[in-house]
Amino acid sequence: MGQLKITDTTLRDGHQSLWATRMATADMLPIIEKIDSVGYHSLEVWGGATFDVCMRFLDEDPWERLRTLKRYARKTPLQMLLRAQSLVGYQLYPDDVVRAFIARAVANGIDIIRIFDALNDLRNMEVPIEAAKKEGAHVQGTVVYTISPVHTTEHYLQTALELESMGVDSICIKDMAGLLAPFEAYELVKLFKEKLRIPVQLHSHYIGGLAVGAYLEAARAGVDVVDTASVPLAFGASQPPVETVVRALAGTPYDTGLDLNLLFEIARYFDDLRRELGYERGVTRITDMWVFQHQVPGGMISNLVSQLKEQKAAGRINEVLAEIPRVRADLGYPPLVTPTSQIVGTQAVLNVLTGQRYKIVPGEVKNYVRGLYGRPPVPVREEIRRMIIGDEEPIQGRPADVLPPRLEEARQEIGELARNEEDVISYVLFPQVARKFFEDRRDGRLRPGRRTVKSQTGEKAETGGIKKVDLKDITQLIKVLEETGITELNLESEGVKIVIRRGSDREGYTGMFSASRADKAEEVCTPGDTPQADQDIIEVRAPMVGTFYRAPAPDAPPFVEVGTRVKPGQTLCIIEAMKLMNELAAETAGQVVAILAENGQPVEYGQVLFQIKKE
Ligand code: CO
Repeated sequence: MGQLKITDTTLRDGHQSLWATRMATADMLPIIEKIDSVGYHSLEVWGGATFDVCMRFLDEDPWERLRTLKRYARKTPLQMLLRAQSLVGYQLYPDDVVRAFIARAVANGIDIIRIFDALNDLRNMEVPIEAAKKEGAHVQGTVVYTISPVHTTEHYLQTALELESMGVDSICIKDMAGLLAPFEAYELVKLFKEKLRIPVQLHSHYIGGLAVGAYLEAARAGVDVVDTASVPLAFGASQPPVETVVRALAGTPYDTGLDLNLLFEIARYFDDLRRELGYERGVTRITDMWVFQHQVPGGMISNLVSQLKEQKAAGRINEVLAEIPRVRADLGYPPLVTPTSQIVGTQAVLNVLTGQRYKIVPGEVKNYVRGLYGRPPVPVREEIRRMIIGDEEPIQGRPADVLPPRLEEARQEIGELARNEEDVISYVLFPQVARKFFEDRRDGRLRPGRRTVKSQTGEKAETGGIKKVDLKDITQLIKVLEETGITELNLESEGVKIVIRRGSDREGYTGMFSASRADKAEEVCTPGDTPQADQDIIEVRAPMVGTFYRAPAPDAPPFVEVGTRVKPGQTLCIIEAMKLMNELAAETAGQVVAILAENGQPVEYGQVLFQIKKE
């Protein structure tokens, strides 16, 4: 057994887990060279949610971030997290996109690609592995760890062995929920080290505190690398702190050889930054530790809590937490990691809110049941499958085989707004976000740099040093919140205190806003007025808080127009909530007489969206 090697996750998983992924490149640059000099095995700096958040909230080009970091981190290999065929997005992409993305990632500076599939479905990893190998990257195959009746040691070993035979250069055990107990870690790593010829790395989250013990036991069992973060971005939902692991192993056969003094210098930088940006330290709340009971990761719980709050049902969290294991069992025990965590969590919320299981089923859940995300660990329960997709047969083959190539089509669509191949890929992955980013770039509206969470006060609010807005214009304020990533504004206007909050989760998804005034109990900002209803007019209301879309895609025709005659079951619109696209269908036949929400705008729970005249 030699030294234990360490991957630093501060610039990816660390801030994704604790700071809603909001660290700007400008705040990485002053410290990157020092981090590069530590002697880490690798620096995880890219992939996961960072790509999306760069464009959506930080006014940054993610590719440019990668190139810049590479320029300053010359010694240590740069690593990224890739969601297999989903890349850095939330759906599966066709092979041409996967190959192009990986080629550009390597060309722009990625040395190590950690590839995982939420379902441990190796068919989703085939093309990414092959492409990454072709580009000359170090390819790390991942085994996603979870606890369920079907996730046995044998399942993990088989997955790892198959990955090895597919040619990966190392194996990662990914414990995203912090569930891997120390002695289990010892047993699992020992088995892997006996049966595999390639290095083994352990990625765990601190959460309930098991991870430190797990790392030490894994070291004893011969693990080659573990993942840690600098202490101001460690603990809680993030990784264990590097300082603890370094100290714990000092003077042992697993001594990391890293310099604690240097690590503390780096930690001081990040702690100052944390204070300046206004983020909390990583802590473990009791709710986070509930993961031991029901396997729901803390990040997902805080997500669920904020979703429920926005649906005015915060008191129902325990019902949702009880429903999650049932949904998970119904759906064949998917591990709870992006994107299956959203799929299971949202269905559980909907089951509880509607009071009827699977009454509303988001498109993503339907696609999951159709097999379009891959093969669940065990098949979806027969009666649930029937309830969700009827007689339709789930696909049997590799999901991406049914996806037509997309790159050339996208290149035509985005045209001159794309400056290079990387832009075309960004557009394929996040069409709306990327288009807006390119337009802002063209028009000189990008404001990259620091995003603080500190509240702003004043008649004219200066939001993150970015734009001045008129407090009376709530829509404009919401837009600014959206653009800046600021989560809360405390304002005072004509003597009335106003608080505007946005719902967001650790990956920075949002679209939900609430405003309250000190002189009124709770007021919700609702765009537009609702005309009076009459007897024959049926009002279709938003079943949840979310973003209202009239069409399935930005350039597709709307589902309905004023005047459209609809049948029961016909889709009227999409409400994007909890990261999912939920189709809302008409319940009665009739003619659409009014559309009362604006495309792409946030809607509140219970807000009237359509008026339909009964026929
Ligand atoms: Co992680």
